[in-house]
Amino acid sequence: MKSLVTSLLGGAILISAGIGADLTAASAPTFSKDVAPILYKNCATCHRPGEAAPMSLLTYKDARPWAKSIRQFVSTGAMPPWHATQPHGVFSNDRRLTEADKNTLMNWVDAGAPEGDAKDLPPAPQFAEGWQIGKPDVVLSMAKPFDVAAKGTVQYQYFMVPTNFTEDKWVQAMEIRSSAPSVVHHVIVYMKAPGMQMVSTFKPVVPVMPQRNRPNGEAPRREEQAGPGLWLIGKAPGSEPMIFQPGEAMKIPAGAQLTFQMHYTASGKAASDQTSVGLIFAKEPPQREIHAGTFINPLLKLPAGAADTAIDSAIEFTEDTHIISFIPHTHLRGKSWEYRLIYPDGRSEVVLDVPHYDFNWQTWYTFAKPLEVPKGSRLEATAHYDNSVNNPANPDPKAEVRWGDQTWEEMQFTALNYYVDHPAPANSTAQK
Ligand code: HEC
Repeated sequence: MKSLVTSLLGGAILISAGIGADLTAASAPTFSKDVAPILYKNCATCHRPGEAAPMSLLTYKDARPWAKSIRQFVSTGAMPPWHATQPHGVFSNDRRLTEADKNTLMNWVDAGAPEGDAKDLPPAPQFAEGWQIGKPDVVLSMAKPFDVAAKGTVQYQYFMVPTNFTEDKWVQAMEIRSSAPSVVHHVIVYMKAPGMQMVSTFKPVVPVMPQRNRPNGEAPRREEQAGPGLWLIGKAPGSEPMIFQPGEAMKIPAGAQLTFQMHYTASGKAASDQTSVGLIFAKEPPQREIHAGTFINPLLKLPAGAADTAIDSAIEFTEDTHIISFIPHTHLRGKSWEYRLIYPDGRSEVVLDVPHYDFNWQTWYTFAKPLEVPKGSRLEATAHYDNSVNNPANPDPKAEVRWGDQTWEEMQFTALNYYVDHPAPANSTAQK
């Protein structure tokens, strides 16, 4: 009896599904014609063999089993990953789909994910083999590979990599490449050089950003701010190489030592990774020197169990400056970020709003048009944290949490790339 009812019901569903498909067949988007171009353009950078995403979406055979999941992730905006709310066009690396493309994907799934005519398929995307920035002038690598087991948690690993540069170098483009990207969650390359200090075009606002054991008002040295040195370049799932505009470059001082901070995650398959950074030097001294700066609030304190603690930091600009990009960084308890620029005339503007911060996506937000920051402006950053049981990523809601490198500790950290409006990097005072 039960099986009869089930089969009757099943039959009814089949029939109605058949009618629905007939009605929409003519207008339904197909994989070959409508969907493949969207996946090639917006998904394939990560969803192809050897990249960070768990499955390839290059072919119909690859994508079909994921149709339902694609609908779910695309409709909620979880994919493609992007966490800021500013309008399209504000950031040059905005990954969000247009409404039209979103609708095409959802209509395709709702119509039963038809393949269509293979003749309609556009040419498969070509991805640069090897370095995306072109052939580097110098490649600096971990001295030897690091073994990642199939399972288990791996603590952050730090590898020292000397540059052996005997003169200052101007870097126009840089890229991080890992030999086993499937186990590399993130890489941060820091640099340290003898006597290198904080750039003086902005200073922490006291007392919002208190000093660490320093006479009041004295800026912390860069090394203290960023641990193993000055942030040079980072890479997280989906991040792109750092390519500066023509005439812009970043300086790596003579004698600099790099530190690779490696966050490895087991992928179910043992792997051995050796990560490198490739550098392309500017052919001539740049018109604009790009600086990487950081600011933090090292005195953060998150009470045990608190669902919403706001932690502020702020800097004040002492020169006319253009900010080209930002990266907000907290750990597993971070839930949102907001950056406000307060102009000298008192006007205030939200320049970056990340309402759903996700530790798994460390994003440089790159302004399509660099942000103009007149001397005397203040940049304020507010991070919110959820240290309650409701945060599924929370390692320990019972702990009072303070600053620390480990993901079970916390940070309120911002890195930014910027240039100072007055020229002449050759005489730059920045890294004396
Ligand atoms: C910048 C890299 C990147 C881009 C671009 C990207 N994805 Fe993803 N995607 C990932 C990663 C990494 C994961 C696995 C981790 C996660 O879920 O956050 C993922 C997970 C998914 C999942 C969930 C798979 C599961 O386990 O259920 C779907 C579905 C998906 N992506 C679809 C898409 C679609 C469709 C696009 C393009 C419209 C897209 N993604 C663009 C990196 C990316």
